Amino acid sequence: MELTDKHQIVIKKLASGRFFSTQQLADELAVSRTSAWNYLKALERMGFELHAVSGKGTRFKQALELLEAEQIINNISADKRALVARLDLLDVCPSTNHHLLQQNSLKPLPNGVVCLAEMQTMGRGRLGKAWVSPYGQNIYASFIWSFKSGIAALSGLSLACGVAVCRALEELGLSGHGLKWPNDILWQGKKLGGILVEIQGESQGGYSVVVGIGINYQMSSQASTDIDQPWVDICTAYGGEIGRNKLAAKLIERVLDMLASYEATGLAPYVKPWNDFDCYKNKNVRILSGEKVTQGVAKGISPSGELVLLKPSGETQLIMSGEVSLRLSEC
Ligand code: BTN
Repeated sequence: MELTDKHQIVIKKLASGRFFSTQQLADELAVSRTSAWNYLKALERMGFELHAVSGKGTRFKQALELLEAEQIINNISADKRALVARLDLLDVCPSTNHHLLQQNSLKPLPNGVVCLAEMQTMGRGRLGKAWVSPYGQNIYASFIWSFKSGIAALSGLSLACGVAVCRALEELGLSGHGLKWPNDILWQGKKLGGILVEIQGESQGGYSVVVGIGINYQMSSQASTDIDQPWVDICTAYGGEIGRNKLAAKLIERVLDMLASYEATGLAPYVKPWNDFDCYKNKNVRILSGEKVTQGVAKGISPSGELVLLKPSGETQLIMSGEVSLRLSEC
């Protein structure tokens, strides 16, 4: 369903968490009460959770802090602001990664274009999975950067990005978070966010890379019914609200800072920090690759970003990320 200007007016009013009568909404929208009621019903069908009380009106069950470009830019530290070439703040889109990839294929984008959306209708995750992306509850952010180096040099980029995200969360006062190889952000073993790097070849050689980051901020249980693993959001992990705009700003600051230096440094400066953030270090794990299962003890990442697996035979195996999944073993 497409969100019209009128839907957006209703969303902006109800985002405050205050009650509005149908008549008040009808006046705001300059429509009849029946139409105002229909707009509310349409939002409910889209997944917004409404709370109606007779005599008071209707409100969102949970207030939403909507994204505001000015607030985001002002929250980025002054010395990093110039890294943002452009901020595309979208209401609803299929996927912020798709938005940048499509724009870049029409006309090459400069480094540092950032796309944020309130909602994704076809959010994509790793291994072809969907990324649950309800309106106003999480962060969906994508960044574009071009690299002259070959594709092999870019293989560590999602790991470096994981470190950038963890540092951003740390700077905002969160603790207890870390990384699961290759690119999951966890808090106390539950999934807090993920990173999806997509690469587009360029005719002059070189590559454009789109780094997509999804962070659960304050997700309702209704929105999350399709998530097939234990998850958590920032507000639960932090025990309060960090602020969605503040979080977006800090992510932009840290991720663009990493992207701006990655061509020169590669993965090297991120290997130790990655291993310090590793949640699975020295844990018994299984590596799933199609039907194949490999067991061992996770020993962090190698200098080139493979997972180091110590097998029961005593032999060490390096696992490339590709199409594999990592699971904790029961034992
Ligand atoms: C994962 O599977 O863990 C990676 C999830 C990546 C989700 C983000 S949300 C912003 C960007 N747009 C997408 O469609 N996916 C990424």
